[in-house]
Amino acid sequence: MTAYVLDWLSLLGRWLHLVAGIAWIGSSFYFIWLDNHLLPPADPVLAKSGVAGELWAVHGGGFYQALKYRVAPATLPRSLHWFYWEAYTTFLSGLFLLGLLYYGQAELYLIDRSVAALSKPAAIAIGAAFLAGGWIVYDGLCRSPLGRNSRALGAVLAVLLSTAAWGLCRLFSGRGAYMEFGAMLGTIMVANVFFVIIPAQRALVRAKQEDREPDLRGAIAAKLRSTHNTYFTLPVLFVMISPHYPITYGARENWLVLIVICAAGVLLRVYFVARHNAHERQGHTSPLPAALGVLALAGVAFALMPRSSGNGAGGLASAGSFVRIEAIVERRCAGCHSAQPTLAGFTAAPNGVLLDTPERILARTDQIRQQLATRAMPVGNVTGITEEERAEMLAWIERGAPH
Ligand code: HEC
Repeated sequence: MTAYVLDWLSLLGRWLHLVAGIAWIGSSFYFIWLDNHLLPPADPVLAKSGVAGELWAVHGGGFYQALKYRVAPATLPRSLHWFYWEAYTTFLSGLFLLGLLYYGQAELYLIDRSVAALSKPAAIAIGAAFLAGGWIVYDGLCRSPLGRNSRALGAVLAVLLSTAAWGLCRLFSGRGAYMEFGAMLGTIMVANVFFVIIPAQRALVRAKQEDREPDLRGAIAAKLRSTHNTYFTLPVLFVMISPHYPITYGARENWLVLIVICAAGVLLRVYFVARHNAHERQGHTSPLPAALGVLALAGVAFALMPRSSGNGAGGLASAGSFVRIEAIVERRCAGCHSAQPTLAGFTAAPNGVLLDTPERILARTDQIRQQLATRAMPVGNVTGITEEERAEMLAWIERGAPH
């Protein structure tokens, strides 16, 4: 029953997280696009009233004209739309999911005893410390003198984040480490909205209401933070889908895979943001960032290509007979992968993968090889598969799964 309730909570939590995330990233992508596409207003009256840029668009059967004011309009409109609940809802639903799955079931998704033999409370404490610590260090750097040099700041952030990715992969299961890394970036993004961007906007509105010149320092800080948020987006979205891809988090050098894929995401985003204001460069955008991003992804794909021999499969000589393989699957997998799982916390075969009859095992040898080679299965190795058993199964599959 509890597993059933957990399933529903995770389903609804994920759905909300996805919808809120789309609303947040969607509006933030839209505003970056809008800001970079603005042209000086054609109408001199608009220019005189403080409009710095305008953009015309046609969408959904109508024409739209967006105007951006240099600082603020002469009088504040009666109704002003704000964008923050999208970000806060994404964060809260994400925190809920992280707590429900990765902390609540840390022994399955966060801890891997072959990486670090952490107790559950220790794993959760370290995970939470990364979330809070990531923000504290990042925010401190942005506020320090380094924050005035956006390139140097970017370089220092890249080094620190790479170190964090490496450290997390030395502490947690690959899947857990990736999710923690994404959650840390997501926390920084939402804290940027909560602690810097929204307060700067409130200060702008207040100054206008009190008829003062606004202090532009807040606006400049907000601009830097929202630039960072844009570049963090693709890495965070990669982490969100990464649990489906043990080829990435299950790789031996999974920390490096994480860093390179995230860097590729940043480079691709750099390219698209640059494209937005190509009109400032006679329509030209350097394809270099995109090319580097694609090259980095191709490099990872090449480096992770399965090698047909010598990948720890234990050689052909030790390949077990099918009877022995069935016994291993029965012992190490079927507790979860059967119509009525016996392991606590499972009400149905995960992902619909049944491994409880010879035919069903034979039908999935390719998938099984993938899961075993990347060490994604058994989850958290709760059934305690041995290295010999893993090697024996891999060798058997490599031999063509004889039966
Ligand atoms: C503790 C429960 C548990 C045990 C034991 C377990 N699995 Fe899984 N398995 C899961 C869960 C949970 C998923 C779904 C993973 C996800 O996508 O979140 C899964 C998914 C899979 C998938 C599908 C992956 C995909 O791409 O959809 C395969 C194949 C698989 N397991 C094979 C195995 C094999 C082989 C073993 C034994 C060596 C095993 N599992 C042991 C829980 C378990």
